[in-house]
This record gives sequence, structure tokens and C-alpha cells, in this order.
Amino acid sequence: MADTPPGPTGEPVLGSGRRYADDPFAFIAALEESYGDISRFEMGPIPTYMVTDPDAIERILVSDADGFRKPAFQGDALGELLGEGLLLSEGKTWKRQRDLAQPAFSMRRLLGLSDRITDHATAMTDGWGAGETIDVETEMARVTLRVILDLMMGVELPEDRIDTVQSQLEPLGRRFEPDPLRYAIPDWVPMPGDAEYEAAIGTLDDVLDEIIERRRGTDGDPSADDGPMDFLSVLLRAQGRGEQSAQQLRDEMMTMLLAGHDTTALTLTYTLFLLSEHTEVRERVEREVDEQLDGSEPTAADVREFEYLEWVINEAMRLYPPVFALFRTPEEPVELCGYTVPEDGSVMLPQWGVHRSARYWDDPEAFDPERFSPDRQEDRPRFAFFPFGGGPRHCIGKHLAMLEAQLILATMISEYRLEFEGETPLDLSPSLTMHPRQEMTMRVRNRTE
Ligand code: HEM
Repeated sequence: MADTPPGPTGEPVLGSGRRYADDPFAFIAALEESYGDISRFEMGPIPTYMVTDPDAIERILVSDADGFRKPAFQGDALGELLGEGLLLSEGKTWKRQRDLAQPAFSMRRLLGLSDRITDHATAMTDGWGAGETIDVETEMARVTLRVILDLMMGVELPEDRIDTVQSQLEPLGRRFEPDPLRYAIPDWVPMPGDAEYEAAIGTLDDVLDEIIERRRGTDGDPSADDGPMDFLSVLLRAQGRGEQSAQQLRDEMMTMLLAGHDTTALTLTYTLFLLSEHTEVRERVEREVDEQLDGSEPTAADVREFEYLEWVINEAMRLYPPVFALFRTPEEPVELCGYTVPEDGSVMLPQWGVHRSARYWDDPEAFDPERFSPDRQEDRPRFAFFPFGGGPRHCIGKHLAMLEAQLILATMISEYRLEFEGETPLDLSPSLTMHPRQEMTMRVRNRTE
């Protein structure tokens, strides 16, 4: 067995950091095409093993999940932002918090809240006028933020507080744009942008404090076990029983606020972009939505019946996965695809590389929602598509995201058609999630026009 997988030779100190930072998407695609299942490169001092074989991905995320942990974020920038919230915590803390959170994300609870999601979507479209242009990425972030605040924190925020949250997202995102220097020097060395990053965290902490204080009076009573089941109420009750520190509660709320809306907003943005560019697909979705809704507002029962709309959303996440790569660190040296990965190695599982690989997808660049029809899925490995990760650490918000995306899209599509007026192709920015760099301006057209 060869010890080191093939891969590019990087520069001294930076490794392949500069090439990766220049265009991570092209870099990932080139490695996948040249080396296949596994390749190795250096991200600054860190040996990185990129794995694109779906069976190996399944092993890492599902069957051997115990043998891997999330990379050491504690003390670094992401750790400072999200702390010990669900996305980053490990071991007993993670298990306890995940068990606590689960009922808030149960399908039964979510289906019962569908009308509330549709209400938020309708309030958004009521504010649009035919002929005007909107920035779709911002609009989608606002509506998904309102949904997460309502369903998981039990609050509605006034417009100016929504603006406050939204204006922090850019400085936060900028901090995670790949920068070869960041890979090469320690985290504590001050860098441009750090002050803005700290300030953004401080502002979001203030908003969360306000929300928590507002709710504490209503749900902090530990005896109120039959109280509301939104995640914040559940955590406040646990705190009342002495089972949740203020810091843990803050970390969960910050994780929920950020992980809970940006990814869904991006999924909606990319779906709307693709629908605008592909007339036949758009017309077929419009027909499905019209026939199913028959003039009414979308409900949970309608979502159960939508088929093509779900394929369209999946196909959008295949081409534009909001989370474009996952990272893990092995607990001890491990054999992957015939090579040994050492315990200080970083394992990268790139949705971007796998979702667009010609090894698993015919004509991978084409937008073709039919790929997700049952008969065309038969021969495809399960982990050729993993927008929500997999195994014990899979996305807790997966069902909420899919329900929400369908309700919001159906609400919009039943009345409007959006025409993309920005520049193509999309210029993508790799931060914690994958954002378009250009403004996603779209013109609102009345469907009856
Ligand atoms: C289309 C929308 C979404 C996408 C593509 C997405 C993607 C992901 C992925 C790939 C992971 C796994 C990360 C890893 O294994 O390292 C994840 C985890 C997570 N997601 Fe999502 N997500 C979405 C929506 C949501 C929503 C709506 C929420 C909350 C309401 C949410 C909350 C979380 C949390 C808390 C975790 C960590 C779970 C754990 O480790 O136990 N996500 N998400």
C-alpha cells in the first residue's frame, strides 16, 4: 500500500494555499479530475486529504463516524463565533444538546408550523410590486431569518433589528474567505478585518441577549414543561433545571441564527437563478404548483404532493451546494482508498467536487432536475449527493430547510416569475458557505402579464 496519495506539489510554507485561495472551486475540480478518489495537498502547514469517493465519504460520515472528529476550532475564529453550539461541539456535550434540540425539529412539529412559514413568505411577496427589481439574495435571507426567529426562538423582530443582523453577515463572511496568509500564520496574529469581525460578533451577541431576555420572563419557569417547543424555550427550561449554562445557551442560539438561515436563503437564491435561466423547467414547476394549489396558499399537505419542485431544489443544491466542503480529522491513522491518512491530517469532503463529478453524473454541468426521479437515482452511490452531510452529524435542519424552501418557492411561483438581470456565469465566493459575488438582481413579473 502506497503511503501518500497523489497530489500537487505546493510552494514552500504556503503549500497549495495560494492556488486554493485563488479559486477553490477550480482547484477542487482539477484535483478530482486528475487524481480521482483521493488526493493530498498542503494548506499552509496542514496536510489535507481530499476524498471524493462516495463509499469512503459514507464511511467517514456514517459507518466509521466515531473515528473522526470536527477539526480543532476551539480558540480559532469559528470557535469564537459559534463556541460549543451544535455545529462544533463534540462528545457528551454534543450528544446532550442534540437530544435536547431534536423535538424542536421533529417532522410533526414542523408540519404543524407550515402555515407560519407560508405567512412569512406571503408577507414578503405582498411587499413586491410587478415590474420592480429586488435583490433576491437579501430578500431570501430576510425571509429565512424571520422563519428561524419565529420557529426556533419564538420571536418576531422589528425591521431595523432584522437590518442589524443582516448587516453583520458580510464582515462575518469576509473573515472566512480563503487567504493563503491565514493558513500559514497562527490565528492569534492580528490581521486586517479582525476588528470588523469582532464588532460583528458583539452586535449579534447584543441582539441575541435582547431575544433571550425577552423570552426568559415567559418560558424560564422550569415547571412549565408543557410550554412551547421552540429551541430557545427548550433551552430556557433546561437552564431553569440547572442543566444549561448561559454560555451554552448563547452558543446554541448563535449557531441557530447563522446555520439556520443563510444556507436555506442560498438554496432559494440559486434555485430562482436556475429557474430564470431555464424556461422549460420553470414552466413545468409553474404547472405543478398551479395544479396542486388551485389558487390557495401552500400548506404541508401540498408539500407532500410536490415532486418536481423537490427535484428542482435538489438539482440546485447539486450544482450550487451552499456548504461546498466538509472537514474531519481522524482520531488515529486511518486507511482511506488504499492510503494511510495520519492523525494530524485534515480530511476534506468536497460537495463541490463530488456533485459535479463526471464519474457519477452524466453531463454534470447541465441543470437537469429529472436526475432526481426515482428511476434515474437507482445506480448512483448514496453519497454522490450530500448537501446536508450524513451520519450522526447530519444537518438537524434538513427537513425544516426542505419544507421551508418548498413553501416559500410555491408562494412566490404561484404569483410571480422572477427574471435574473445580473451577470452570468455566477462568480462564486467561498466563505463558510458559497455565495454569489455579484448582486442577484431579479425583476418581478406578474405571472398573468
Ligand atoms: C439548505 C439548507 C441547509 C444546508 C445545505 C445545510 C447543510 C448542513 C451540513 C452539510 C451540515 C453538516 C456539517 C458537518 O458535517 O460538518 C449541517 C449541520 C447543521 N445544520 Fe444545516 N444546512 C441547512 C439548513 C439548516 C437549518 C434550517 C438549520 C437550523 C434550523 C441548520 C442547522 C444545522 C446544525 C445545528 C448543524 C450541526 C448538526 C450537528 O452537528 O449535530 N441547517 N448543515
